[in-house]
Formats: sequence, C-alpha cells, structure tokens
Amino acid sequence: KTRILTGITTTGSPHLGNYVGAIRPAIEASQNADNLSFYFLANYHALIKCQDPELVHQSTTEIAATWLALGLNTDNVVFYRQSDIPEITELCWTLNCMAAKGLMNRAHAYKAAVAANLDAGEDPDFGVTMGLYSYPVLMAADILMFNANKVPVGKDQIQHVEMARDIAARFNHHYGQHFALPEAVVDDKVAVLQGLDGRKMSKSYGNTIPLFLTEKQLKKHINKIKTNLLEPGEPKDPDTSTVFQIWQAFATEEQTADMRQAFVDGIAWGEAKKQLFELVNGELAEARERYNELMGNPKFIEEKLQEGAEKARSFSAPLMTQCRKAVGIRPIG
Ligand code: TYM
Repeated sequence: KTRILTGITTTGSPHLGNYVGAIRPAIEASQNADNLSFYFLANYHALIKCQDPELVHQSTTEIAATWLALGLNTDNVVFYRQSDIPEITELCWTLNCMAAKGLMNRAHAYKAAVAANLDAGEDPDFGVTMGLYSYPVLMAADILMFNANKVPVGKDQIQHVEMARDIAARFNHHYGQHFALPEAVVDDKVAVLQGLDGRKMSKSYGNTIPLFLTEKQLKKHINKIKTNLLEPGEPKDPDTSTVFQIWQAFATEEQTADMRQAFVDGIAWGEAKKQLFELVNGELAEARERYNELMGNPKFIEEKLQEGAEKARSFSAPLMTQCRKAVGIRPIG
C-alpha cells in the first residue's frame, strides 16, 4: 500500500487554508483502499511558535475535533498525536546527527525570521530558537518514522518534505536502506489559499478564515476579504481576486467557469461574496454541527487519540528498534 502522511501544527484554530491544502485531500486519499494513511497533530511543532500551554492544548483539541468532524474514519486511518509517539523525538535526534547544518540554513521559516530581524535592525538570530532552526528535522522524523511515500501539503511545506527526503537518502547511504523517500503532493488548484488581505492565509499573519465559525461570523469574515474599488457592472479580474481564488478552491469546474464569466460581466463584490459564503457554508455546515458536538465531548476525542497512538506505535516501535541497531545502539554482548 502507498503510505500517506500529513500533520498540522497545533497552534490556533484550523482555517480554510489548512482545509483545502491538507485536510480535504488527506481525507480523500484515506478513502482509497490502496492507501494506508497516517494523520497526526504536530503538538511538539507547536512549541516552536507558541509558548502558551493553554493555547497549545486548546488547539490540539480543536484540530483533533476538526479531522473527526470532517469525516476522518479512524478505522482506516492511523490518527494520533505526535507527543504520544516517543519514538518520533528519539528518531529526531538520530536524524539531527545526519542532517547537514547547511541544509537547515536554507529553510524558509528560519530564513524568514532572520530577514525580519535584519529589517528591524536587530541581531539576525534574535528570538531564533534551536526549535525553529531544526524544525525540518523533527518534520523529517514525523515522515520517516512511518516510511511515508506521499505527503499531502500546501506549497509552503514542499521544501520541508524535500529536506526529509535528503536526510533519508543520507541516512540510507550511510547505514543501509531503512527509509522510504517521501514525496510532497500538492493540489495546484489551491496550493496557497489567500487570506483576507490577499497574502497567504496564515495564522502568523492573522488573516485567516477559521473553518468552523458560526454562519454569522463566516459571513462577516468573507465580507472582510480585501477587494479593489471597482463598482458593480465594471469588469473584474478573477485572477487577481482573493474572492475568486477561494471560490475556485470550493467550486466545481463548471461553477468556476460561471464565476469567471460573472467577473468579466462585472458582478458586484457584495454579490460575489454572498455567493462565496453560500458555497463555503454549504460545504462546511454539516461538519460544523459535528464539530460542535465533538468539542462538547473531549473524552471521546481523547479515546480516539489513545487508540490511534497504540496503532501508530505498532509501526514506530519496531522501526526505532531497527534504527537504533543500525546506528550501533544495542545491548552489549
Ligand atoms: P501547518 O500547521 O502550518 O499547516 C498545516 C497544513 O496546511 C497547509 N496550509 C495551507 N495550504 C494552502 N493554503 C494555505 N494558505 C495554507 N496554510 C497552511 C500547510 O501547507 C500544511 O500542509 N510543519 C507543518 C506540520 C507538520 C507536517 C509534518 C506536515 C509537522 N510534521 C509532517 C506534513 C508532514 C506545519 O506547520 O503545517
């Protein structure tokens, strides 16, 4: 079977970008009997960006409830919390000793932090932790631990999957064949969903549309999407519009073609946003109800995660035993 694996960092509430970039394609892939899927909550990754324990915990609950509400079937998916699998952090160290520092120097997240510091006239390493610097190694451990073949992610994560591949190849070259070489899978139509201000939708930009807002709040957020000042009746360019881009991520091809025409015909922004609200709300309404029920039943969520951890460890424990042996860590005699 092809192994599919993906994770979400447990900071903040999941948003439409996470949904179209990772959750929706991952759930679709899990329904294919040729695949074996591993989906998880990256709560150790969360510590890189968030040092508020309550927020990390709350977000872990929300993201778990989100996957379940959106129809993830835990009978055919290994669904777990990163921190429940101690082999991942153990493998992370082992891989740290194989990962080139020069490779980490090129990681986007680290480079962005350095660039922001330089812009602000600060020391380049101001506020940069070793966690941020070596974040791709922890991600490599997540992926390699389960010998994942395909990793469905948004465009921003492609580099990290490539780094995981590099690290795996280096390990295999030195210690023998232990890891499958993973590949990122990106849906081009929605590779980077834009946020309210037209930049990439991201928790760090504060421009997100959270997935499970109330209808009223969802409408409000969609109304806040930045547009130009063109009046009703004036032709609008779909290809530079966030409203159109989000539309495309939720619509059928036919609906997209119709909306493209409506833009050319000068649809009013208010009308386009109203239709976008209806489209997005239509796709999410049922899941929103299930999400609210699940959030009221944390015990059920915890049970699902415990079951998932047990399944995950049936893969990770033997692999880690094999890795330890490969690097020369084994009983004496
Ligand atoms: P994270 O939590 O930032 O995002 C989770 C997933 O959502 C995708 N995504 C987007 N896709 C399209 N448009 C957007 N605006 C958008 N914003 C986010 C991300 O690309 C990602 O697929 N390091 C990872 C989590 C992780 C992981 C892994 C992923 C940890 N270990 C192993 C895959 C495999 C992260 O912070 O994603």
